[in-house]
Amino acid sequence: MTILVTGGAGYIGSHTCVELQQKGYDVVIADNFFNSSLDVPERIAKITGKKPKVYQLDVADEHALELVFSANCIDAVIHFAGLKAVGESCHIPLHYYRNNLDSTLTLLETMERHNCKQLVFSSSATVYGPANESPYTEDMPTSATNPYGWTKVMIEQILRDYCTADSGFSAVLLRYFNPIGAHESGLLGDDPNGIPNNLMPFVARVAAGQLPELTVFGNDYPTRDGTCLRDYIHVVDLAKGHLSALSYAASHTGAEAFNLGTGEGVSVLELINTFERVNEVSVPHRIGERREGDLADVYADPSRARNELHWVAEKTVEDMCRDSWHFIQTRMAEQ
Ligand code: NAD
Ligand code: UFG
Repeated sequence: MTILVTGGAGYIGSHTCVELQQKGYDVVIADNFFNSSLDVPERIAKITGKKPKVYQLDVADEHALELVFSANCIDAVIHFAGLKAVGESCHIPLHYYRNNLDSTLTLLETMERHNCKQLVFSSSATVYGPANESPYTEDMPTSATNPYGWTKVMIEQILRDYCTADSGFSAVLLRYFNPIGAHESGLLGDDPNGIPNNLMPFVARVAAGQLPELTVFGNDYPTRDGTCLRDYIHVVDLAKGHLSALSYAASHTGAEAFNLGTGEGVSVLELINTFERVNEVSVPHRIGERREGDLADVYADPSRARNELHWVAEKTVEDMCRDSWHFIQTRMAEQ
C-alpha cells in the first residue's frame, strides 16, 4: 500500500514515515522543506533501511501535485503539511489561511481526480477553543482564538462537507494534544529554527546551555502547583496513531474526529522536574507573567481513540524527557 505523506519531512510527519515503513507501507513524501531539513529522508532511511520517495513541492501547487499522483498509485494520504505557529499566525494571518487552506483544497481536488478516498488529517486540540472544559471529548463544539486554530476548524468543516457530498470518502481528523519527545535513535526530533516557542524544545536548549534560562509563564493558575497543565504525548505514540487511523479509514466512510492524547495533565513545573531528574541535568528557570491566550488545563478524553482506533499512548513523561534530551545531544554532537 502506498501512502502519500504531505509534510512528511516535518517533526510529526518524519516519525510517522518511520512507523509506516517499518510496517511495510511504501511512503511518498511531498514537502516544500520550508520548516524541515533536506536531510530528513536520509535520516528516515538510516532508521528503517529504506529511503522514502521524496517530492520537493508546495502541496498547493496543483500541477506539481498532479505529477505525484500520476507517477504513483496513491492508496491513502496523511496530510501534515501546514504552518503551525500560533503567534506568527496572528501577525501574518493571510499567509496562514492561504497556505493551510489552499494546500488542503488542492490536495482534495487532486485526490478526487485520482479516485483516492482515504485521508488522515492533522488537526489539533486547539479546535476546542476557550469555552470547553478538560477533559475534551470529540463531540464538543469547536472554535478558535487565532488564525492558525481557525485553519484547523475550517479544514475540519471542509472535510465534513466533502464527506457528506461523497459518501465513499473517509476523513479521519486527528486532534493532537502536545507532542514532545523524539525518535529513540536521536536522528529525528523537534528542531525549530530560532528561539523555540514551545516548552520542550526550550527546556532542552536551556539544559544544553544554548539558552540561559526558561521563563515559566505564570504560577497563579487554578492547578495543583499553579502552572498550566498540558497533555504531553510522545511523538512516536502519536505517529503510531496515524497507522491506526489509516486502518480505520480503510473500513469506514465519513468524517470522524479522534483525540490523540494520554488523558493526563502534566504541569510545567512537573515537566521541568522530570526532565532534570531523568537526565541528571539542571534547567534554570524563573516564574514570569502569564502568556496571553494560555488556558489553565488542556487534556484529552482519549476513550474514543482507544475504543474505535484501538490505539492508546504507551510512553511515559520520563520517556519523552529522555528522548528529547538524547535528540538535542545527538544534534549538538553532529554540529
Ligand atoms: P512541522 O512544521 O515540523 O511539519 C510540517 C511540514 O509541512 C514541514 O516539513 C513543512 O516544510 C511542510 N509544509 C508546510 N506547508 C507546506 C506546503 N504548503 N507544501 C508542502 N509542505 C509544506 O510541523 P509538525 O509539528 O510536524 O506538525 C504537523 C502537522 O500537525 C501540522 O499541520 C500542525 O499544524 C499539526 N499539529 C502540530 C502540533 C504540534 O504541537 N507540533 C499540534 C497540533 C497539530
Ligand atoms: N510554557 C512556558 N514557558 C515557555 C514555553 C511554554 O511556561 O517558554 C508553558 C505554556 O505557558 C504552556 C505550556 O508550557 O502552559 C505548554 O506550552 P507550549 O507552547 O509548548 O504548547 P501550547 O499548549 O501552548 O500549544 C500547543 C501547540 C499549539 C496548539 C496547542 C493546542 O504548540 O500549536 O498546543 O492545544 F495549538
